[in-house]
Amino acid sequence: MRKKIVAGNWKMNLDYQEGIALFNEVIDLVNAEITSSQQAVVCSPFIHLQSLVQLAKVSGKVAVGAQNAHQAESGAYTGEISAKMIWSVGVKYVILGHSERRQYFGETDALLAQKTDTALKNNLTPIFCIGETLEERQSEKHFEVIKAQLYGGIFHLDAEAVSKLVIAYEPVWAIGTGVTASAEQAQEIHEFIRQVIAAKYDQAVADGITILYGGSCNPKNAPELFAKPDIDGGLIGGASLKARDFVDILKVFNA
Ligand code: PGA
Repeated sequence: MRKKIVAGNWKMNLDYQEGIALFNEVIDLVNAEITSSQQAVVCSPFIHLQSLVQLAKVSGKVAVGAQNAHQAESGAYTGEISAKMIWSVGVKYVILGHSERRQYFGETDALLAQKTDTALKNNLTPIFCIGETLEERQSEKHFEVIKAQLYGGIFHLDAEAVSKLVIAYEPVWAIGTGVTASAEQAQEIHEFIRQVIAAKYDQAVADGITILYGGSCNPKNAPELFAKPDIDGGLIGGASLKARDFVDILKVFNA
């Protein structure tokens, strides 16, 4: 059985107090309503991480993730945060290669390959994001783009290392736009990702990897998406800023 995960991505939202208040709400709802074994993850800005880890300890049902980490172990990189620092406060996950990082911060597949190595070396579980732009889908390059992102970002890893990753398929045209990929469109790509992994490694590796869908996922569309055989949960942006919506998405696996 693959691990089911619903991960919230707060992006650059919520000041410290607002973040703590939201997280407390999430924990209360999770404690009251979530019984099965799916994993809730909240990926916050760096400033919240340490406090969220402390609050999460009491519940034990929510893990905490960062949204980025530097590729170097340490050094003269003013303003950056290392994977080791993130791990040192008790964080377990890190989002890597989000399309906003690729687009606004020029993160390339080659850079992301380095970030993945450093994150894994420091015991973090990368939630590695891939996905095509609208233009790429319209010109029917989406399969090619996904394959290139897998080869460029993570296929240098051996089977043992790649098995530690969580992959998130996030079509760029569906992120924050209110336009969701249909469950069929998402399933088609998730199945393709698994095929590409099976061809590079083997079927067991492909069958074991958790693949999340992201892009305007909400409590209404999550049931149809998560019912698909290759969709193992979601990476949730906007809806993760509302405790009720986020926990309702988690509850899809309880239904
Ligand atoms: P969204 O963002 O749910 O607001 O579309 C998803 C993401 O960017 O991870």
